[in-house]
Amino acid sequence: MVRICFVCLGNICRSPTAEGIMLAMVAESGLTDQISIDSAGTGAWHVGEPADARSRACAAGRGVDLPSIARRFEPSDFARFDHVLAMDESNLADLLELAPDASSRSRVALLRRFDPASPGDLEVPDPYHGGRRGFDDVFEICEAACRGLLDHLITHHDLRRR
Ligand code: 4NP
Repeated sequence: MVRICFVCLGNICRSPTAEGIMLAMVAESGLTDQISIDSAGTGAWHVGEPADARSRACAAGRGVDLPSIARRFEPSDFARFDHVLAMDESNLADLLELAPDASSRSRVALLRRFDPASPGDLEVPDPYHGGRRGFDDVFEICEAACRGLLDHLITHHDLRRR
């Protein structure tokens, strides 16, 4: 089982969106029993809450469910995941600060690094204080990056549809 966790600040907008997209892609690829998917936030303000209604509406419009309930990413989580995917540079810095050892740090990366077509900017921008357009952008950015991440996992972990 390959275990991945998407991480943003609040765990109500970006990381639940990436999680929902990845759950759908992995199911479509017949790899549900080989890739486990979670999300978490570096901040604790929204712990226990479902994904932001704007994120859920945006995803639902594209046929994607966001089942996340917000939780905080804990240092002990590093032992539970093979890949920890940060949404922006600030999340990345917070995770690297939290990581207990070099092995943990080596499992942290920016999600957009996995999008072969990503521009120089490797951040998934925080949509929380903006309008609907920001949520559409987050969905599209996460979709492209998750496609690349899934390709990477299939290749590097030698996964096959069973
Ligand atoms: P997220 O968005 O990190 O994509 O879940 C945010 C959600 C809440 C806050 C900031 C960003 N907040 O400041 O409460």
